[in-house]
Amino acid sequence: MSVWAVLAAAGRGERLGVDRPKAFAPLAGRPMLAESLERLESSAWIESILVVAPPEWEEPVILLAEELGCGKVAASIAGGETRAESVRIGVEEVGADASVILVHDAARPLLTEEMVERVISPLNEGWDGAVPGLPLVDTVKRVRDGAVEETLPRAELVAVQTPQAFLARVLREAVADSVDATDCSSLVEAKGGRVKAVPGDPRLLKVTTREDLALVESWLNRGRRNG
Ligand code: CTP
Ligand code: MG
Repeated sequence: MSVWAVLAAAGRGERLGVDRPKAFAPLAGRPMLAESLERLESSAWIESILVVAPPEWEEPVILLAEELGCGKVAASIAGGETRAESVRIGVEEVGADASVILVHDAARPLLTEEMVERVISPLNEGWDGAVPGLPLVDTVKRVRDGAVEETLPRAELVAVQTPQAFLARVLREAVADSVDATDCSSLVEAKGGRVKAVPGDPRLLKVTTREDLALVESWLNRGRRNG
């Protein structure tokens, strides 16, 4: 099995509101991207990494990868206007040898080897893809024009994270005629692909605001102190 990682890092980070793209916002003294890059590099599952960079930041990504000794980074390419567009650009650059593609958001820095394994393993058991999902704590309702239309069955719902892993063949086909989607799995689902939901990890929180950044930083520092 040859696994390529596509690291989606091309967003502007408007809600974070720092003076550079979110992937380069400082996290515990390093660009946020360094965290997921290093973790993908050291994963026994990952063969090559393709970074989808903020436009005009392709070169700083390569310099960072070199500085960190991330020899698995095959390329850094400029992303698009939306996440879906960036992922499509990344997937199209993945090597023809790839049998599995793992898509991860640079905005979720605390990737673990356990989670990489958890999403890749089901692909050996007949699944087309696997995604981590967390149970919801709040009740979810469908609302239109301010009026509640329906209360959804919470026990059946999960909040989905990355990394998401797919058979390369399936993901290539799914992104080719991509409409705008907020995750890759929905494209695969739309094509009839079978996607497994595996347990998510609260620490894979997506950094959106400064409060999220501070929280992830505290988890990271605590982890370092404890060994
Ligand atoms: N992303 C991307 N290309 C885009 C938009 C987003 O590669 N055009 C990536 C981001 O870099 C991030 C992930 O998709 O790793 C999730 O997106 P999000 O958290 O929304 O990040 P941003 O779009 O950067 O943030 P904001 O929406 O606040 O501007
Ligand atoms: Mg965004």
